[in-house]
Amino acid sequence: MFLAVQAFRDVQCGEKPMTNRTNIQGAGQQHVATRVHWASRMGFILAATGSAIGLGNVWKFPYITGVYGGGAFVLVYLGCVIIVGLPLMISEFIIGRRGQENPVGAFQRLHRDGSVWQAVGWLGVASGFIILSFYSVVAGWAISYVFKSLAGFEGTAEQIQGQFGDLIGSPTWSILWHTVFMALSIGIVIGGVQKGIERWSKILMPALLVILVGLMFYGLFFTNGGTQAIAFLFNPDFSKLSAESVLSALGHAFFTLSLGMGAMITYGSYMGRSTRIVRDAVTISFLDTLIALMAGLAIFSLVFSYGLEPAAGPGLIFQTLPVLFAETGPLISVPFFVLLTFAALSSAISLLEVVVSYFVDERGWSRTKACLIMGTLIYLLGVLCATASIQVAFRGRQQGFLDIFDFITTNYMLPIGGLLTCLFIAWVVKDKVRSEEFGSSGIVYKTTVLTLKFITPIAVLLVILHGLELLPFMEYGQ
Ligand code: PHE
Repeated sequence: MFLAVQAFRDVQCGEKPMTNRTNIQGAGQQHVATRVHWASRMGFILAATGSAIGLGNVWKFPYITGVYGGGAFVLVYLGCVIIVGLPLMISEFIIGRRGQENPVGAFQRLHRDGSVWQAVGWLGVASGFIILSFYSVVAGWAISYVFKSLAGFEGTAEQIQGQFGDLIGSPTWSILWHTVFMALSIGIVIGGVQKGIERWSKILMPALLVILVGLMFYGLFFTNGGTQAIAFLFNPDFSKLSAESVLSALGHAFFTLSLGMGAMITYGSYMGRSTRIVRDAVTISFLDTLIALMAGLAIFSLVFSYGLEPAAGPGLIFQTLPVLFAETGPLISVPFFVLLTFAALSSAISLLEVVVSYFVDERGWSRTKACLIMGTLIYLLGVLCATASIQVAFRGRQQGFLDIFDFITTNYMLPIGGLLTCLFIAWVVKDKVRSEEFGSSGIVYKTTVLTLKFITPIAVLLVILHGLELLPFMEYGQ
């Protein structure tokens, strides 16, 4: 029976039969034969959009836009989403849907059993593991700020800003909130694809949208910073653009669209044959960008209405905004941090799902076992990140694990994973398989393949070289 299913799948893939996959992973094959799919297209879109929309949109995008000067950066970022993000997302969906397996298995299925390309899947599973460990700590801060908001922010600006330092400097509190967040993520992923991830995405995403629309309207129409925020985000001043900002926009496009680590491969593996990959990838990238811009409008309206500095950096939402929230009251601050928590949660479950799907498919573990064991290990690594006092020498200075993991994954692991994924689809996968999954072989298909062959890899290579401080035309001061 398994062999029959296998043979059928091989014919469908147009690849060589992979006879010994059945032997190595008996349970994995059973899983493939009965692989669960998303219950509805809407459920899939919400889950994948939920993965994409996260701390990257509400926390990182506004602050890097602030640091790199606004409108011109936004334009470059939009360009990066189109020429790098979108083609890569399509590639990941193709690999996932065709492979119907976790990233490690999917690369083998599209190439051959034991293929070296499975290493890209490995890299993805490792990235998911590491990213979730620190992501959960930052998400834990967001939950803690929901409660701080309920209690109200009081005191001088310095005192309010100081609360953040107190939180991150206190391992007890950071670990406590990290524990809560990881428990929530594990609880959802244990529920499975339809009853866990899809069901919760259907709750979290609409709630997030309602809150964000509310906050954006408040910012635009009820504060006097709205016009300035619009000008800041949409009026490009190209003199502010530097090579550094272009490369940051590119790197961010990766992170925010959850690319380069197999999250979209995994979610793609739960797609049925009827899904239209290109249309859905466009929808998801569009929604992710829209939410980032809306979050930017909400945040910068507040920042400008109080005459504050948009370029406050990473502390923008945990330090600068609370000072304003002391004026606006909990009616604005509580929804804001709930929004941040929801966004983080729907991303965290996709990170965990990549790791879990690997152990379920390849090692034959039950979902519950994989969630509990891997969730706990990720949690323990997160404890290291939550303890800011544990520091090691990295790139010439003492740093905590949170910063080190963030740096390594964003600058090396995701771009390398993305580069290899793109090369795999562009140069290794057969044209027939690719175009079948793409859904056409016309001009849009040809342009996408050309982009994937030449433009995307060069752009990503630049990001990697920049991360390694190897670009000759940049200045890297220590
Ligand atoms: N896209 C998420 C965000 O913007 C982060 C993420 C990266 C999630 C990679 C999954 C995979 O916050």
